[in-house]
Amino acid sequence: AKSHGETRDCEQPDPMSLDALFQPLQLGGLTLPNRVIMAPLTRARATPGNVPTALMAQYYAQRADCGLIVSEATAVDPLGMGWYRVPGLWTSDMVEGWAHVTGAVHSAGGKIFAQLWHMGRLVLPDYIGGAQPLGPSPIAGEGQTFAPPPPDYVGGFLPMKAYVVPREMTHGDIAHAVEAYGTGAANALVAGFDGVEIHAANGYLIDQFLQSNANHRSDAYGGDLAGRSRLLREVLEAVTAAVGPGRVGIRISPTSARKGMGDENPDALADAVAALAQEFGIAYMHLIEPIASGFMERPDNPVIERIRAIFRGVVIQNGSFDAPAANACIAAGKADAVSFGRPYIANPDLVMRMRGGHPLAVADMDHAYVGDACGYTDYPLFAGSV
Ligand SMILES: Cc1cc2nc3c(=O)[nH]c(=O)nc-3n(C[C@H](O)[C@H](O)[C@H](O)COP(=O)(O)O)c2cc1C
Repeated sequence: AKSHGETRDCEQPDPMSLDALFQPLQLGGLTLPNRVIMAPLTRARATPGNVPTALMAQYYAQRADCGLIVSEATAVDPLGMGWYRVPGLWTSDMVEGWAHVTGAVHSAGGKIFAQLWHMGRLVLPDYIGGAQPLGPSPIAGEGQTFAPPPPDYVGGFLPMKAYVVPREMTHGDIAHAVEAYGTGAANALVAGFDGVEIHAANGYLIDQFLQSNANHRSDAYGGDLAGRSRLLREVLEAVTAAVGPGRVGIRISPTSARKGMGDENPDALADAVAALAQEFGIAYMHLIEPIASGFMERPDNPVIERIRAIFRGVVIQNGSFDAPAANACIAAGKADAVSFGRPYIANPDLVMRMRGGHPLAVADMDHAYVGDACGYTDYPLFAGSV
C-alpha cells in the first residue's frame, strides 16, 4: 500500500523525458500550448462583497504560461455562496472585477475558464441571513467550515462552524439554481473568460444530487442515476445554451468520501456522468481521483479508464501528481492533460520549473485561504530563472 502524497502509479514509458506534458492540446476551440493545467484553488482574496480584486489579476497573470487556468470556485448565486471573500459572478461589479483578471491573463498570453460553483448544503446559515441552506435532502455534510468573521476581526484564521441540515430543495429552488448556472456562464463570457467549468465535485450542490448518500429524494431528481443526474443534465442544458458546448468542462470526484459524501456505485456514477458529458459534446472532463493528502483517499477502483471509454473529449486528471507522473499518465493515454493544485500555490513558474527539472517551492498553507499579498502573489520565481 502506498501512503498519501505519493504520485499515482501510471506506467512510466520514458521517465527521462517530459515530452508528452509539453505537447500542445486542442480543447474545444482553443489550442493549449502545453498540458499543464492550473487546478481551481479557492484563495479568498476577493472583497468581502465577493468582487474580484487587482491582486487576483496579478496572481493569475503570474501563472499564465500553463496550458489553461481554471479559476477558483466562483459562486453563481448568493444562496450558493458560503465562504468569506470568495468571488461571485452574479453582479455587474463582479463581472467587471473578473474582466480585469481575464484581461491580465490574456495579456500575459494565457487562457482561463471560470469554475461555476454552488455550495448547496455546505453553506452556513451565517452567510445567507440566517436561512437554512439548500440541499437535495435534509442530510448535513460532515465536518465544519469557516464562518464569516466576527465584528472585531483583524485577519488570520476564521472561526469554524459545523455544517447544518439543509432544507430539501423544491422544484422552484432547483429551477432557480439551474438558471443561476446559465446566467453565471453567460456572465463569464461577458467577463472575458475563455469558457466555464461546472463544479460537480468535492461535495458541493451538484455532487450532493449525484451521490446516493446525500440524495434521498423520491421525486424526478433522486432515486436512480437518471434522477440523481437530472440536476446536472439541466445545468448542462443551461450552460451549453449560454456559451456553447466547446467552452464547457465539468469537474467531478465520484470516489471522494469527504464531507460525508459517498455513492453506492461510483463506477456506475462515473459512467452516467461521462455519458452525459458525451451527449452534450462538452470540451472536457476534469477528474479528481487520487489523492491529495487532506483532500481524498486513494480510491480502490479508479474510474479514469471508464470515463475515457465513454467520453471522447479531453480528459484532465488531478491529484498529487508531479511532472514525471503526469507525463507518464499522458504518454500512456490515460489522460490528455493533468492539473496541479497545491504546487501552483508556491510556484507561479511551475511550467518553467517542471520543464527545467528544477525543485519546487513549498506552499505556506497558513496563507492558503486567508490574507492578502503574503503567501499569494509574493512567491519568487526560481532563482536560476532569467
Ligand atoms: C487551497 C486550496 C483550494 C482549493 N480550491 C478548490 C476550488 O475552488 N475548486 C475545486 O474544484 N478544487 C479546489 N481545490 C482542490 C484542488 O483543485 C485539487 O483538486 C487538490 O489540491 C489536489 O490536487 P494537487 O494534489 O495537485 O494539489 C483546492 C485545493 C486547495 C489546496
